[in-house]
Amino acid sequence: MTEVSSIKRSRIILALDLTHKSNLHSALTTISLLEGCICAIKLNFHLILPLSGSELSEVNRLVHSYGLQSIADIKLNDIPSTNKIAISHLLHMGFDAITVNPFIGEAGLRAVVGQAHGLKGGIIALVYMSHVGARLGFGINFLASNNQVTSLYQKFFQDAMACRVDGVIVGANRLKILKEISLKKDGIPIYSPGLGTQGGNIKKAAISGADYFIIGRSIIDSKDPLKTAKSLQHQIELTTTPNRINNAD
Ligand code: XMP
Repeated sequence: MTEVSSIKRSRIILALDLTHKSNLHSALTTISLLEGCICAIKLNFHLILPLSGSELSEVNRLVHSYGLQSIADIKLNDIPSTNKIAISHLLHMGFDAITVNPFIGEAGLRAVVGQAHGLKGGIIALVYMSHVGARLGFGINFLASNNQVTSLYQKFFQDAMACRVDGVIVGANRLKILKEISLKKDGIPIYSPGLGTQGGNIKKAAISGADYFIIGRSIIDSKDPLKTAKSLQHQIELTTTPNRINNAD
């Protein structure tokens, strides 16, 4: 992703969440329109459910022809034998990475990372989601095996680091958590959704440590998606180079 992002001069991952026209033609047209100002697309159930396997492969072929990456955002969270089948299907359809919920535990996470890497794919693990109410799950405290009170997101992050995932997801509207994780991330990129429609602010998220910005409705539902995407790309470029300053909130 680092290489693609520097070639494309963009840190925007387009959440291709088509709602009105969730069909192959709309997906291909939108990618072709926006390919110049993004570094990847992220497909969610909006398209993964209605499109067939061969249609998803066609989407991914187009994405790759533009030098972009493709992420399947299914927040995988099942027993190892089921996870293995899901990873195999998705990577064979041409996805480059899959999102996973670390609730499957460290051993489960290690297994999915091994399987994905064996098929030249990546795993991006949730650490703290962006939606209202995320605190009740990701922020919950528990007594860890070392007798220390730990938050669930901290445990998820430790497991993600131990298993050498390819990225972690922290909501762009969770600035304190973003800062905390960015100080400990040891080279693992942070992917941040939750911008615009969910209240996150690009500048604040960038200076708090977000590396990639997952953006859906603010672009897709705008009057002029290309103009909006270019403007967001420009904002990110201005904020992330040359140095981040440490005054997000
Ligand atoms: P919007 O329209 O809010 O779309 O820009 C965001 C996209 O990202 C997904 N999303 C998340 N995915 N962890 C994730 O893995 C999160 O915390 C999170 N928050 C939003 C959302 O489903 C949509 O596709």
